[in-house]
Amino acid sequence: MPADLQVAAASVPPDGLDVLGVPVVADDDGPRLMPGLPAHLGELELPVTVDRTLAQRHGFNGTAGQSLVLRPAAGLEVVLIGVGPAPVGEAERWRRAGAALVRAAGAGGEGAVVVPADLAPACGDELSLDAVAAALTEGAMLAAYRFDGYRSSPRPGSLERLVVLRGEAPPGTSLERGVSRGDAVARAVALARDLANTPASDLTPRALAERAVQQLDGLPRTSVEVWDEHRIATERLGGLLGVSRGSTEPPRLVWARYHPATGGPGEPPAAGGEGEGGPAHVVLVGKGITFDSGGLSLKTADGMTTMKTDMTGAAVVLAVLAACHALEVPVRVTAIAPMTENMPGGAAVKPGDVLTMRNGMTVEVLNTDAEGRLVLADALALAAELRPDAVVDVATLTGAARIALGTSIAPVYGRPQEMADRLQGAAARAGEQLWPMPLPEEYESHFDSDVADMKNIGKAGEAGSIVAALILARFTAGLPWAHLDIAGTGRSTESAGYRSKGATGFGVRTLLELLLDELPLPPPGPLPVPPSADH
Ligand code: BES
Ligand code: MN
Ligand code: ZN
Repeated sequence: MPADLQVAAASVPPDGLDVLGVPVVADDDGPRLMPGLPAHLGELELPVTVDRTLAQRHGFNGTAGQSLVLRPAAGLEVVLIGVGPAPVGEAERWRRAGAALVRAAGAGGEGAVVVPADLAPACGDELSLDAVAAALTEGAMLAAYRFDGYRSSPRPGSLERLVVLRGEAPPGTSLERGVSRGDAVARAVALARDLANTPASDLTPRALAERAVQQLDGLPRTSVEVWDEHRIATERLGGLLGVSRGSTEPPRLVWARYHPATGGPGEPPAAGGEGEGGPAHVVLVGKGITFDSGGLSLKTADGMTTMKTDMTGAAVVLAVLAACHALEVPVRVTAIAPMTENMPGGAAVKPGDVLTMRNGMTVEVLNTDAEGRLVLADALALAAELRPDAVVDVATLTGAARIALGTSIAPVYGRPQEMADRLQGAAARAGEQLWPMPLPEEYESHFDSDVADMKNIGKAGEAGSIVAALILARFTAGLPWAHLDIAGTGRSTESAGYRSKGATGFGVRTLLELLLDELPLPPPGPLPVPPSADH
């Protein structure tokens, strides 16, 4: 159930228009209509100026995300939508404006938003028309997102339809292209939100794997494969198996693969084929704990209330795969999502137990609530076996990430550092915020084990997000790697702008932006110390 709102591009306003969004820039001396807007759209007169006295009374100054509703004629609402000071160089301001329009517009009906045919006077040459259309679409659709499938009577929705109108000239293909790109991105985010909002008993590892197949199977140049508990055992995924032991639900591991069109008429290369000189290959790994009770190191009642969302990383990487084809991602992408519950059943892994991971390294489990790193260890080892150009993992990994950076900014880790920088840049363009964190060698000793290669926790109360990242790094075989800890950003306690209460889908837009960026990826670093064979 993606957002109900349909967005399209059009050259004339639809009949029976209910709401018209008009962009307003914030000048030093007050709000002003965006330069370059047409004076009228067919029959429809646009406001010529912004009434500054009225605007001031309502505290509207044209900041991105602000809106002011006017009623110039019966039946039609004009919503002034702020995009901030000119030049409007960032897509993010148009996302906020799209969201503000939808939130001001109320339930039902048809909306339109007008953009200047010539953007240069308002936006400089930073933004193309299709980028503006994409951002407006994305913001509007994400603000319209609802998760109402579990209510006996649905709450009032949003606008049903929104058209993006380019002043004067008929819409060029770029406007339509922008709308369809924004639509594809917003649908991917909505899919991740839907999966993460679904109650854990309805989204067991088996159910999540089935949903992945439903969403991905049949998409062009996309394939999906599911490993069941037997395959997981024969593949020696000791971390995933260990975590799953406390549950009556069997684990799953989903592989999803996408490859870009080759350009030629022939067959595309087989998935998994290692080709020199072909498109770059990026592996995405997502934590898929469908419910995290903490296991025998049981969480508190409060600590468990949001743990149906502990599979957000898996939801994010699968949603990204689902959008690769529509967005014409130019690189090869593989998503690996290990899925299990973390429960305290009679067969559960016990504190002090030692698990042997896919790559042969052993981990002493001293806290069963530090389970994400155990399942990711196996998935990262599998990723590394493919020798891709880069690996990126996404996980609701540590409460410490939320304590450090809150719910708007996620820590990003990278080796080499350039990988973290690349992710941070992609996030900034996509309207998500990442902040680089260190991987200091001196903290490696925090997770020395008395009996195994490492233990699964560091020192209580010290650098919890960093230590978790250092543990993950041991399984990446020195390949270019980045890690996003979305424990803070994956959920929101309020609906505001284009964020929705509950699961946010944070990470989808950053990863899509990364995959669409055609810069070469950094070369692999030196191989890490091999695991000790004797213990
Ligand atoms: N899934 C949690 C992390 C989490 C906490 C996500 C809060 C979202 C909100 C993770 O599995 C966990 O329990 N981590 C522990 C690690 C600790 C035992 C070393 C934590 O952060 O407390
Ligand atoms: Mn946990
Ligand atoms: Zn967890």
